[in-house]
Amino acid sequence: MYYLKYRPKSLKELDNTKVKQLLISTLSSKDLPHAFLFIGERGTGKTSAARILAKAVNCQNNKFAEKGDEVDPCNQCASCQLIDKDSSPDVLELDAASNRGIEEIKNLIRESFFTPMHSRFRVFIIDEAHMITQDAFNVLLKTLEEPPEQVIFILATTNPEKIPATIKSRCMIFNFSPVEEKDIVHMLERICKGENIKLEKQALEFIAKAANKSFRDAAKILEELVLMNKTKLEEIKEYLGVKSENYFLELVLQGKVKEALKWLDEFYTTGGDVKTLLINSLQTLKQMLIEAVEKEDKIEIKKIALLIKFLQEAYAQLKSTPVELIPVELALISFYNSFHD
Ligand SMILES: Nc1ncnc2c1ncn2[C@@H]1O[C@H](COP(=O)(O)OP(=O)(O)OP(=O)(O)O)[C@@H](O)[C@H]1O
Ligand SMILES: [Mg+2]
Ligand SMILES: [Zn+2]
Repeated sequence: MYYLKYRPKSLKELDNTKVKQLLISTLSSKDLPHAFLFIGERGTGKTSAARILAKAVNCQNNKFAEKGDEVDPCNQCASCQLIDKDSSPDVLELDAASNRGIEEIKNLIRESFFTPMHSRFRVFIIDEAHMITQDAFNVLLKTLEEPPEQVIFILATTNPEKIPATIKSRCMIFNFSPVEEKDIVHMLERICKGENIKLEKQALEFIAKAANKSFRDAAKILEELVLMNKTKLEEIKEYLGVKSENYFLELVLQGKVKEALKWLDEFYTTGGDVKTLLINSLQTLKQMLIEAVEKEDKIEIKKIALLIKFLQEAYAQLKSTPVELIPVELALISFYNSFHD
């Protein structure tokens, strides 16, 4: 998988320009923060950056080892290699989605008081940090207020509004979203070079647009195009056009409910994110609604407003449904029925 093979391993390779610069200046400064909060949508590079940070502060060949000014990890030394293989006892990743309670956080804090085995710092990467319970956050807060000297916490989240302000104020905050298209293009160029793929710049820009501001999605789309042998701009446009969310909305608005349901099913089974689909669709519809109002097109206004209503309801139900697709399918059918009864 390209997105794993080309996961950035050093600051140099981090294509997210703003994050890269902020990380470099943070690592270069005299005082290293002990708590970080990485905020960003899926696939924007939070985990990648957290691992690079863990390597940087523990590398045996850079500034942190008092060898020169370079802050980038060398990726050669024993420490870098161990972290890359995910087998360093001093870099711990915890998925808060499944370890959200007070006991798990207490365990982690207990762990944080041990001195590092092989490294300078023990680094705790807490993914999906917004899932941590209120009680557990309180426990964590105490430690963040006075973190042990040799510990760094990196909290990563897609939902910053669910992180208590008290926690936020203890962390250095990094915003990973929105990802800029030119940064995605840069990543795609890196992959193309590595894989010896020849694509025109315009094609790369088109892929970057289709990728929903996600590095991961862009890498996946590129891989899919290569597998399907679609490397000419026109082919790519056509192929991605049919898969695009605008095409989906067109089907729905035109009353092609069967095709729309089929599109949805394929979208989901190939790894599409339903929540993102709804957010993007609602944003597009909002724009379309404004245009319809300007044109005083009563039929369009009614149609679009109704679809917005149904999709909003679907969005609200996402949290409670055991089957993610059901609320959206119901919305499409209700919308269709409103015009075809
Ligand atoms: N800054 C970047 N430069 C280049 N490629 C990147 C960058 N960030 C992410 N990627 C690509 O996207 C993939 C996903 O990145 P990563 O796992 O770091 O994202 P994430 O923000 O942790 O996502 P999630 O919220 O889904 O965990 C990586 O494997 C890599 O291929
Ligand atoms: Mg991640
Ligand atoms: Zn190193």
